[in-house]
Amino acid sequence: MEQENALHALEQGSVLFFPQLSFSLDKDESRFLSPTIAAKSKNVSLDCSRGILKGSSTDEAEQQLLQSMMQRFATSTVALLHNLLPHYTAGLVQGRTSFRPVEIAQRAASWRKDDTRLHVDSFPSSPVQGKRILRVFSNVNLQGKSRSWRLGEPFENIARRYLPVLPRPVWGSSQLLKLTGITKSRRSAYDHFMLQLHDRMKADMDYQSQVDQVAFDFPAGSSWMTFTDQASHAAMAGQHAFEQTFYLPVACMQNQSLSPLRVLERLANRTLV
Ligand code: SIN
Ligand code: FE
Repeated sequence: MEQENALHALEQGSVLFFPQLSFSLDKDESRFLSPTIAAKSKNVSLDCSRGILKGSSTDEAEQQLLQSMMQRFATSTVALLHNLLPHYTAGLVQGRTSFRPVEIAQRAASWRKDDTRLHVDSFPSSPVQGKRILRVFSNVNLQGKSRSWRLGEPFENIARRYLPVLPRPVWGSSQLLKLTGITKSRRSAYDHFMLQLHDRMKADMDYQSQVDQVAFDFPAGSSWMTFTDQASHAAMAGQHAFEQTFYLPVACMQNQSLSPLRVLERLANRTLV
């Protein structure tokens, strides 16, 4: 029953919140809770399948420890999803693991990269061809500082609001982006529209202030997960979190019609992948 409710809530675009589910750091790992651990951007990322760590400023010995901490988080999220969402197990593909030791409120960013603005996730260099983006977060702040989010309107409202004014993809551009290495795989029409939605939302300051929204603080020591391609979210403040990305083919959902892909296809009246 708990599993069914969780699946249902997620597919509706809700955030599942686990107030008691904390990821514990080992004693000698707390030294990684410092913004200087991230070389330049906002996070350190780990590609678990290839064992490649990127974006850290530590020396080699430290890197081993940092990597094993992140690997432990990654493994724990796989177990969590396996137990909570057995329906997805066969289709889930594990993506990057991310460690975020930089205070959000002090992160300088261009408007497009500014995650303090409401958005749905879509990334220029990582097309997903309709696959869902499911992300698990843990706040590991040791000073008791919450991670503060805002949550916006349902995906269908966003799509209805912006789709009519979005430019169509340019013929041949997806091949060009792939050939020139700008994208890692082909940018489908779906990816094109999702990127446009992401950008339009962030660029629209009237929308940011006027759309229905709620603020939610995820306390230190808690975890949460959501489909970030669907749930409109903004991260306003907080420091020291982990995030694990998973990809899920829409065919593995219980109710595909709720996916951004199917919503956009219905509204645009065409296939997008
Ligand atoms: C985001 O996905 O917009 C950032 C979430 C976070 O780091 O809390
Ligand atoms: Fe995001």
